[in-house]
Amino acid sequence: MKKKLALLLTCSMVMLGLAACGSEKAASSTVPTVVDGVLTMGTNAQFPPYEFYDGDQIVGIDAEIAQAIADKLGMKLEITDMDFGSIITSVQAGKVDVGIAGMTVNEERLQNVNFSTSYATGVQAIIVKEDSDIASPDDLAGKLIGVQENTTGHIYCEDDFGTENVIAYTNGATAVQALAQGKVDCVVIDNEPAKNFVSTNEGLKILNTEYVTEDYAIAISKDNEELLNAVDGALKELIADGTVQTILDKYIKAE
Ligand code: ARG
Repeated sequence: MKKKLALLLTCSMVMLGLAACGSEKAASSTVPTVVDGVLTMGTNAQFPPYEFYDGDQIVGIDAEIAQAIADKLGMKLEITDMDFGSIITSVQAGKVDVGIAGMTVNEERLQNVNFSTSYATGVQAIIVKEDSDIASPDDLAGKLIGVQENTTGHIYCEDDFGTENVIAYTNGATAVQALAQGKVDCVVIDNEPAKNFVSTNEGLKILNTEYVTEDYAIAISKDNEELLNAVDGALKELIADGTVQTILDKYIKAE
């Protein structure tokens, strides 16, 4: 079932890619945004290394990619922190221009927003206590699972293991704290944040199995095709010239 979905998504992203061809040189002055000349990005900055606070600054992979896109479009970047579940509605409501938050492309979200080309891959990982008897996704049946609310990990776990077995926390760090305190048996969350959270909490480990693999992309309003084309064009150039890879490598060290 999940394979089929992935194929569908790939097709729709290819179509998107074709639609964006030929319009890569959009000038900033003609691209409509919430505030003229400013690219406003909605994110949830509790998701290292994609977005997190360094003092009162939001930094990370997504912040740097957004800055590089804004630079290309001749715009200023402004980042707004919010609950993960509010990002898509804020994009739809025209409160922010783009949602960049390690956000996975899925069918439900595609009904509400457009997505750019994908710029990174995410894997849903399972975090357990070091002495846990959970060794694979199959072992999650009947266990209490912690997730970050409104994320794909939340959706998959409710679908696969039942709502009554899933506890949703406002952010990933809180879910991992609950695991450390024995309030849940495991946490399902994207692999890079998982590594980050495990490195700052004693006695936890990440299972060496992949639950679901996903594509991250930028969410943009369905009503602003011009912005979609401009952002997607800039992102494609940044992928082609290696900038995106350099940013990823800066935050994600090869194992
Ligand atoms: N990739 C997952 C999703 O799209 C989790 C993203 C959470 N991102 C964040 N910035 N908190 O649902």
